[in-house]
Amino acid sequence: MSKIFDALRKAEQTSTIVEVTPEASIDPAATAQPRRERVVETEFGYLANSIQSCFPSSSFGRVIMVVGCAPREGCTYVASNLARVLARSVGAPVLYMDANFHDPSMDKEFGVRQQLGLSDVYSNGKPRDLSTIIQPGDTEQLFALGTGSNRVSPAAFFSSKQFEGILSSVRKVFRYTVIDAAPLLKYPDPIHLASRVDGVVMVVRYKRLKRQVIRKGLELIESVDSPVLGAVLNRRKFSIPDLIYRMVS
Ligand SMILES: Nc1ncnc2c1ncn2[C@@H]1O[C@H](COP(=O)(O)OP(=O)(O)O)[C@@H](O)[C@H]1O
Ligand SMILES: [Mg+2]
Repeated sequence: MSKIFDALRKAEQTSTIVEVTPEASIDPAATAQPRRERVVETEFGYLANSIQSCFPSSSFGRVIMVVGCAPREGCTYVASNLARVLARSVGAPVLYMDANFHDPSMDKEFGVRQQLGLSDVYSNGKPRDLSTIIQPGDTEQLFALGTGSNRVSPAAFFSSKQFEGILSSVRKVFRYTVIDAAPLLKYPDPIHLASRVDGVVMVVRYKRLKRQVIRKGLELIESVDSPVLGAVLNRRKFSIPDLIYRMVS
């Protein structure tokens, strides 16, 4: 763990590190709430609060990108749960935007069939009304926008004027837009996206990637001057049994 924290040193100075335990390690007897809800409310609550404190009252919506350095770090898990908790806590509309064209997750995450999405907004020459494309999410005040059915080059798309137009439209309607990005060191497009957002949350899966890899990801984000708001140490496992941990913590 110390290696990961060392690698996240720079981010730590100005941002928050939240630890997320695997759902399976939560004791269901400890609460009447289902496991999933408990994880979402307690652990993502810290992250949601920190993000809100980074953006005290502002008249336009904020766009947060959630990203991991490699696939399966837990980016979709964190982005979707962060969006759910923000929607519950801010009392204003929140958008989950799936921006991973290489491995779209909106249908899996929200149980909606992939329909029109980001790539279809400008596919007919004239822009479509976003409200006809955005889907309701599984939580009050939560909405979701998928990648869509039109084939695009993601890097060019995220750098385009059209995408800038989409972001300015969602900023007017949604208090927060949480973007689920493709892995930072596997594809070039997330860095184009990073330069357009108000802040980045880095997801680091516990004991998986080497610290040099994580540092490279952080440096890439810094290279486009996008602030790292926080880091999530995902799937953190406790080295002492859960019961003892609860007694001493
Ligand atoms: N903290 C967690 N607890 C339980 N399952 C998790 C957790 N983080 C990720 N997963 C699961 O691990 C898998 C990969 O995570 P995912 O979020 O899809 O990764 P990525 O988007 O980075 O490729 C998914 O099945 C997801 O549900
Ligand atoms: Mg994903």
